[in-house]
Amino acid sequence: MGVKIGVVGCGSFSRSFINLFKAHPDVEKIVLCDLDPEKVKQRGAETGIENFSGSLDHLLETDVDAVALFTQNWLHGPQAKQALLNGKHVYSAVPMGITLDEIKDIVEAVEKTGNIYMMGETSYYYPDVIYCRNKYQEGAFGDVVYTECEYYHDWDHGLYDVMKRRGGDNWKWTAGGPPMHYPTHSVSCFVSMTGAYLTKVSCQGFSDRNKDGYDLYGEGKNEWDNSFSNESALFSASDGSAVRVNEFRRIGYPGTVRMSVFGTEGSFENKSTESSKKGCSWMTKQQSERIVLDDLLECKPHAINNTDGENAVVDEKPVNFAKIQPVDSLPDSFKKMNSGHFMSHNFLIHEFIQACYHRTMPCNNAWMAARYTIPGIIAHESAKRNGELLMIPDFGNPKY
Ligand SMILES: NC(=O)c1ccc[n+]([C@@H]2O[C@H](COP(=O)([O-])OP(=O)(O)OC[C@H]3O[C@@H](n4cnc5c(N)ncnc54)[C@H](O)[C@@H]3O)[C@@H](O)[C@H]2O)c1
Repeated sequence: MGVKIGVVGCGSFSRSFINLFKAHPDVEKIVLCDLDPEKVKQRGAETGIENFSGSLDHLLETDVDAVALFTQNWLHGPQAKQALLNGKHVYSAVPMGITLDEIKDIVEAVEKTGNIYMMGETSYYYPDVIYCRNKYQEGAFGDVVYTECEYYHDWDHGLYDVMKRRGGDNWKWTAGGPPMHYPTHSVSCFVSMTGAYLTKVSCQGFSDRNKDGYDLYGEGKNEWDNSFSNESALFSASDGSAVRVNEFRRIGYPGTVRMSVFGTEGSFENKSTESSKKGCSWMTKQQSERIVLDDLLECKPHAINNTDGENAVVDEKPVNFAKIQPVDSLPDSFKKMNSGHFMSHNFLIHEFIQACYHRTMPCNNAWMAARYTIPGIIAHESAKRNGELLMIPDFGNPKY
């Protein structure tokens, strides 16, 4: 018997995931769920799926084994807890939650029920992050001393439309949230590479000047009374290194998620933008030793292995994996499917279905997701207090 999964939220982001669930050999049944019946109907017509539900509350009363949350970002925490306590495994789009209590509740619900929780952190499978994780495991950095992580997504890069769609008529109330409440794309790069976690933070905020006429930021203008459109934090990590994280939403720069890592023996420098992983290199103390990594890290068609041993380019339908991505770990159907965010969706969905089917621990489990998310929540508190150094709570390593 395969996994029966309910996809909650038939908005924009879940689209490519529904096709992946459909193509996974260990998925038995998919139920499409949204509060808006039109969206469910439309997605059903596109995918041929005929099982529908009108709300998460209703879905939790059905026989699905797991739910995948693609709802608005500020809803994930309470919805994940509700699903876990109702006996379901949970895949959640980022972020895990937006308050410390929401995250604590999820970790406790996982510990109490033994159900699987996984956060779909796309950065985890980005080619540059995989490269750094491999290098770290080889010991090639020596001791990591300093890491820079950043997520730049300017309002003019489609963000107004996204927040209008997610927030509805009252969209401004949720649009001007603290940038550090969406920290997982950047923070996870460091945490998932080293396994170290962030212990202390001092953060500065840039008070938005509201020149776009929307007046999204400031006291009384959003749910969080937040003034900052950009936040920059300096963290201490449990391995003794320093980590600088920028979360910018008002920035004259191409959109990007990226990390550069500096170690006592080797360093990885990343000058890529969101559209490509070109511009990454590996360096050591030797002036002449600079390895350009474009060929290894760029997502573009190249040869892949099928399980029958054939080494073939799927040239009638090119797939865009980077050479460094572990394509062999995927089911054959996933090797032939393109997806978003540097092909990370394929790996995330396979990881989650495997976890549900074989009861294994996903890499992006509740305890790791907490370590990706809580640092940003505390960083924003520090920014509100003009950079006061604050300690970051930690819920520890996976418990089972
Ligand atoms: N790289 C990434 O990891 C990445 C990229 C984009 C979006 N996301 C995340 O994906 C999520 C979804 O984004 P989107 O742009 O598709 O949002 P969206 O607003 O288009 O869709 C959300 C849908 O959830 C539905 N919904 C909310 N509560 C529900 C409930 N109780 N029961 C059933 N349906 C419910 C809404 O009706 C809506 O249709 C966001 O949280 C965002 O953070 C992550």
